[in-house]
Formats: sequence, structure tokens, C-alpha cells
Amino acid sequence: MLTVESRPLTAAGHLEIGGCDAVALAAEYGTPLYVLDEGRIRERCRTWRQAFESRYPSVDVEYAGKAFLCLAMARLVDEEGLNLDVASAGELYTALQAGFPPARLVLHGNNKSRLELEMAVGAGVGRIVVDNLAELDLLAGVAATLPAAGRPPQEVLIRVIPGVDPHTHRRIRTGQVDTKFGLSLTSGAALDAVRQAVGTPGLLFTGIHGHVGSNLHDATAHLQALEAMLDFAVAIRDETGLNVEELNLGGGLGVPYLPGESVLPVDRFAAALTEALVEGLAVRHLPQPRLLLEPGRAIVAEAGVTLYTVGAIKDVPVPEAPGTRRYVAVDGGMSDNPRPQLYDAVYTAFLANRAGETPDTEVRIAGKHCETDVLIGSVAVPDPRPGDLLAVPVTGAYTYAMASNYNRLPRPAVVFARDGAARLVVRRETLEDLIRNDA
Ligand code: LLP
Repeated sequence: MLTVESRPLTAAGHLEIGGCDAVALAAEYGTPLYVLDEGRIRERCRTWRQAFESRYPSVDVEYAGKAFLCLAMARLVDEEGLNLDVASAGELYTALQAGFPPARLVLHGNNKSRLELEMAVGAGVGRIVVDNLAELDLLAGVAATLPAAGRPPQEVLIRVIPGVDPHTHRRIRTGQVDTKFGLSLTSGAALDAVRQAVGTPGLLFTGIHGHVGSNLHDATAHLQALEAMLDFAVAIRDETGLNVEELNLGGGLGVPYLPGESVLPVDRFAAALTEALVEGLAVRHLPQPRLLLEPGRAIVAEAGVTLYTVGAIKDVPVPEAPGTRRYVAVDGGMSDNPRPQLYDAVYTAFLANRAGETPDTEVRIAGKHCETDVLIGSVAVPDPRPGDLLAVPVTGAYTYAMASNYNRLPRPAVVFARDGAARLVVRRETLEDLIRNDA
């Protein structure tokens, strides 16, 4: 299986993904190409469920669609028995069009529109995570007709600010006190929201949600958030007499992007969280709520590899040793993967068509956009030539999902590879697609 540490090879010395020859995939579907190992995504889904379900009696794992979503992915998530977190009308529409059971959807967002709320309530979305008091008013209006229509009330969770500052890139921190997401525990806003939700016909308050940040390497921030949220559950019980029936700890577990990088395995993450939860409930004399988790990156990142064709190569004199830098340009860049630009994200790379050769040449991988879109600052590969196929692993999350048409580059295709067979799940955009909406 392709991981950041190991790459399976075909007899021809090509990279193998999901049993398919990467060179053959590039020839068939073109480059840049996102290839996802479907078996690996399914294995991750099962590992996540197993890790939590084997340790705690009542759990839902909800895949965070923002990391990567298309019709095929929504169907896969359904087949694997995970719930699906959607954060916009577009993600919700994709899930519904894929036939995802609405009762297993959860709607997120810090600025949901009336349209999004109407769509969600109309479709029968299982849970809505309410971010703020204005949204609660809006939702109260939208859900007011449910009882008259003979439908059950809309289940809601209140999103709280856990007040935890996790160790990750500043642009993907969310749990700290100074944030746009959720309601403050310390100011009383979160408790006000609970009281308001409880007293609103058409709404059923079920629990609380907190998400601390993304690409976290251990459980420290989650454990701190858990304590704050359990204290809040006590406050809710004391104030309203209600028990928190659902406790959603969000997503955020990271993945290793580089060889040697260490990230807590999901099994140990689950052990840490469930042990702390059981103990935290016991000391506070709280009943066991249903535990919800929302992994995105940890489900899809490692299953993905992006394939690029090498183009222009140049040696540029630089002041630092050894005096020249070899720039290797590929046929994509910040439009298919903006993460290096946005978050200083790091990746490794290798040549998929010469995957068995010794990486003896230090190069800088650059994109083809009209700005300095360096994908990888420095990586050793076998002396590259134009036409080589460059593979960037661990690109299954937040790449296609964040892709743009900058410089009017068509977005790449996405292929699922499994047991030696590949299927196109998102077709490559064409030049005509680029002007489709132009008036
Ligand atoms: N739940 C909520 C409410 C979230 O906001 C997020 C991510 C997740 C779950 C899933 O988090 P994950 O397990 O994937 O860390 N574009 C950035 C990541 C932004 C994450 C936003 N929220 C990146 O490429 O690193």
C-alpha cells in the first residue's frame, strides 16, 4: 500500500496505486491527476469506526465532506456506515444527489443562509450544529412548521468555543477563545443558546459540539476541549435539568505528510478520548452521551496521490551552496493544491515512472502559475527529465476540495483505484467548462 514511507512498485518499476500502474493511469486520464486508493479510504473508515465502537457503547463517526467530496465519495461513506458532515448547500446537494440518507447528515457552518437551513430541514437532515444566536432565530422560523406537518422536531447541537489553543498552523486553529466559530462558554452565550433551543417549538436540543483545529498530531487539545465541554454539560444540567445526549468532539486528527513524521494512530487517539470521557462523566455524575467524531483529513489524505508531468527544468544560480538550484516545473500547482501557499504545507515527491531509482538529485518543485507557486521547496528525486511523472503522496484531503481555476487552468480529474481497476469519479474540466458561466 502506498504510504508516505513505502511505495509499492509494478514489475516495470512504476508506482502502483490500488493495484493500478500510475503510468498507465496518467496515460489514460491525463495529468495533473488525483488518484485515490479506494481500498485505503474504506480501510480508514473501518478503522475509525472500530477504534471508537470497540471502546464506547454509543458512537457515530461522521466523515467531514469538506476534505474531499463528490458523488462517489458520498456513496462510499454511506456504504461504510459513516455519517456525513456537510458545511454548505453545495456539499448538502452533493450528498442528497448521491442518495445519502438525510437522517445521517449533519449540517455545519458559521453563517448558514436561510436557503441552506430550508434545504436541510426540508430534506430531513438528522442534525444541525447551530453556530450562533442569529442562526437559532432563523432556524426557529424554518422549523416552526414541522409540528403542524406531522414531522418530528429538528435535532440541533450547539457549537461551543472550547477555549483551547492547539498546536497547528494558525490558519487551521479553531478552538481558541478568539474565533469566528461557535458560542462562548465563558460569556454565557452558549448557555443562552441552549436555553433558547430548549424553549423553541420545532427544535430538539440534543447536545453540544466543539472542534479545536485541524492536522493535530496528538490528543492534547481534544482532551482539554473534552473537559471544558463536560463542565458545560454540568452547567446545562444545573440550569435546565437536561442531560447532554450527544457530545461531538469534531475532527482534527492529522496525518504524517513526510517520512518520519509521527502522528498519534487513531486507535490510541480513540483510547485516550474514550478513557477520558468515561472518567470525566463518572466524576461529574453525568450519564453517557452518544459520542460523535468528525474526521476528514484522517480518512482521505493518505489515500491520495497527485500525478504531474514534469516540464521545464532549469538550473538557476543562487548565492547559497552549492551555487545552483534546479527548478522542476510541473503541469499543475497552486490551483490543484493551494496548501503550500496557504499553510506552508510540506510534501514529499518521487518519480512514479522511475520509482525504483535512487533519488540522487535535490530539486525544487514549482507549479505553472503566474506566481511563485512552489509545491515542494526541496526534495531528492532521480535526476528528472521532461516527461517524467511526478507523484506527490498524501494529497487526498483539501486538494481537489480547494482547487481553483486560477490562470484558467481546468480542474484535474479524480480517479478511484481499487484491486487493479480504476474508475473516473470526477471528470477533468475542459476549456469549454471554463467559459460556461461567462456572459
Ligand atoms: N468538523 C468541523 C466542524 C470542521 O471545521 C472540520 C475542519 C472538520 C470537522 C474536519 O477536520 P479534519 O479532521 O479534516 O482536520 N483546509 C485546511 C483544513 C481546514 C479544516 C477545516 N475544518 C487544510 O488544508 O489543512
